[in-house]
Amino acid sequence: MASITKRIAVIAGDGIGPEVTVAATSLLQECAAQFGHSFEFLDLPFGGNAIDRCGKPLPAETLDACREADAVLLGAVGGPKWDSLSLAKRPESGLLGIRKQLGLYINLRPIRVRPSLLDISPLKPERARGVDIEIVRELAGGIYFGEHRSEGKNGSARASDLEIYSSAEIDRVARFGFERAARRSRHLTSIDKANVLASSVLWRKVVSGLADVHPETKLDHMYVDNAALQLTIAPKQFDVIVTSNMFGDILSDGAAGVAGSLGLIPSMSWGEGPSLYEPIHGSAPSIAGRDIACPIGAIASGAMLLRESFGLATEAEALESALDRVLEAGYRTQDIAGPRSIVVGCSQFAALTRDALHERLTHAERYGWGV
Ligand code: IPM
Ligand code: MN
Repeated sequence: MASITKRIAVIAGDGIGPEVTVAATSLLQECAAQFGHSFEFLDLPFGGNAIDRCGKPLPAETLDACREADAVLLGAVGGPKWDSLSLAKRPESGLLGIRKQLGLYINLRPIRVRPSLLDISPLKPERARGVDIEIVRELAGGIYFGEHRSEGKNGSARASDLEIYSSAEIDRVARFGFERAARRSRHLTSIDKANVLASSVLWRKVVSGLADVHPETKLDHMYVDNAALQLTIAPKQFDVIVTSNMFGDILSDGAAGVAGSLGLIPSMSWGEGPSLYEPIHGSAPSIAGRDIACPIGAIASGAMLLRESFGLATEAEALESALDRVLEAGYRTQDIAGPRSIVVGCSQFAALTRDALHERLTHAERYGWGV
């Protein structure tokens, strides 16, 4: 592949966000060097640190720079320091804001049990081995963006949040789900609560209406409560899942637990603007600044960025396989360590992955192996 030049907006955010993001950018930089590409990284204030510096979680300069970038890499937002702010002022509102402002209405969360991490799945090996699911979460609508109201005080206080979906919003995310399924084992499970919610009745109707357009794909429907159970006890029955914003948020954390840890899972938010990549974990304030966080979710987000936004599949695979080799050699951060692991910090894990990436290419150059 010819060498490319790209600009990546980096919004590392709060807590462990900056530590895991540096791990990811250092590996993207190494990939660029090894494969002859040129990536420019632009560090931008975002989340709680932007509230402290600029008075709001998503400053206009940050949003503008993200709009102009070829891709966005995000760490995590939020922390106890900003927890007492009202919902609209919290760091999390910056995250919802950037998704909305960039027109990112799809969120893709791949849940894979890595063979090298089979032992940290809470499931028996025969149930965990080979789990490979893509959760397609609607990201710009539903209860997250419906009207939030609170009124009254004390004993007579009331609050409500509105789950609202239009058929057009459901249609575009369902199409994306069908397209992902068509590239894989052609099985799409749509998850809703159509036995109770009107928004889910519409969801099911719109998704079902697309089945004719994709006769190659087997479409199933499942209620969200049963899906939570099935994901936990028999996750291998799923290939691609498509679901609403709220259900996708909850189910993807549960599914990450099946893979062994929330810290392992990357994500892509996709739509009109440049795609945004982020690990699905939070800012983990209790371990921030100690160089012990697990950078795998962030590094895997970097690999996803290479593949999905830059079309660099070979580079993405080289990075993923470097990650696997480091894990296979026994290196792990403390949160996912087992009795036989060699415990390393976040930055050392990234350095080892860099070495593994470098070594692979050196071998390839020397012996002519494919990378
Ligand atoms: C996620 C997070 C966010 C969400 C929060 C931090 C607003 O939990 O990306 O899953 O609920 O979407
Ligand atoms: Mn979440």
